[in-house]
Amino acid sequence: MKTRCRFLILLLLTLVTFGLSFEAKGQARVTKERFGDTLDGKGVDIYTLTNSHGVEARIINYGGIVTSLKVPDRNGKLDDVVLGFDNLDDYLKGRTYLGAIIGRYGNRIAKGRFTLNGVEYKLAVNNGENHLHGGLKGFDKVVWQARVLKVPNGAAMELTYLSKDGEEGYPGNLSVKVIYTLTNANELKVDYSATTDKDTVINLTQHSYFNLAGQGNGDILNHRLFINAARFTPTDAGSIPTGELRRVRGTPFDFTRPTAIGARINQDYDQLKLGKGYDHNFVLNGRMGTLRQAARVYEPTTGRVMEVWTTEPGMQLYTGNFLDGTLIGKDGKIYQQRYGFCLETQHYPDSPNKPNFPTTVLRKGARYHTTTTYKFSTAKSEPPAVAGG
Ligand code: BGC
Repeated sequence: MKTRCRFLILLLLTLVTFGLSFEAKGQARVTKERFGDTLDGKGVDIYTLTNSHGVEARIINYGGIVTSLKVPDRNGKLDDVVLGFDNLDDYLKGRTYLGAIIGRYGNRIAKGRFTLNGVEYKLAVNNGENHLHGGLKGFDKVVWQARVLKVPNGAAMELTYLSKDGEEGYPGNLSVKVIYTLTNANELKVDYSATTDKDTVINLTQHSYFNLAGQGNGDILNHRLFINAARFTPTDAGSIPTGELRRVRGTPFDFTRPTAIGARINQDYDQLKLGKGYDHNFVLNGRMGTLRQAARVYEPTTGRVMEVWTTEPGMQLYTGNFLDGTLIGKDGKIYQQRYGFCLETQHYPDSPNKPNFPTTVLRKGARYHTTTTYKFSTAKSEPPAVAGG
């Protein structure tokens, strides 16, 4: 009798445990918690998106920031592969755009000026004499409206923000929507859309710093990078594109064959000296507006692979050149120079002043829509080279 009783209890316990872990692993879901308050008392929440494999993205509605992203290595061990902070106060200090949505304009606009329909607009200047990443208070520093979305293929949330006419100097009331979906295929998909009531310019991007060996676990120089681009946009000393679309062939900017990020980063090449490493826009192959592969990164010690797919014409490779060990990130990790890399899909910097670049003008009544997907997988050894477009 006693044995049977014990057996039944054991069976019950096993069923409950199995049932719970099945629930925990099997179902994509989103949970929400309070993360903190901004200095002007606005509540900020943290949303945890978990897909059916237990892959997890945490996102706050301050700046639309991806605060952590846990993906498996080749042995199935989850690790956080983005740089970030443990608390809102550190994000409020507004340094280096870790993980944030960037707008209205990703990267620089020369001297913070552009002319549209014959009117010159003067933007906030926050990077030497130039305008960077939307100005003094860009989309990375505002509180967005957030809601959970029900989707069939994963976990998703929507962020919306109304950028008022004149904000940071830009014309038009711009209504912006960003949808993050963590799919059951281990992709973090970012869908950006916007409409305006007056002609304006727009260039939204995502500023996550990745380290596929795990955040804070050393530099990213051994990550092997493929970029699907035959040209890049060289810059002047202020990181403003000169207008040239330079061929990558024969330069340290040729990533058409997978190459370690650090293999040529210290070469005596003018463009690397200017940016203290890579801080440049690549002209992606293939037709803009169609989702195509922009990049693939392979981290040899963990086997993690990240592919970037986008509808955008360009992508900024930034190798964390200005990280200098003064930022203390999650779990007390110190972020030294080149501890993270960004692959910011975008239109080219300073497009409003460069007639030969694809336009960033959004007309009244038109709809802006771009998509970028970061897809995670693992490999035992480096996957074969991908054909360029
Ligand atoms: C820019 C860098 C800048 C960095 C800030 C990048 O997108 O290209 O020049 O320092 O963002 O985190």
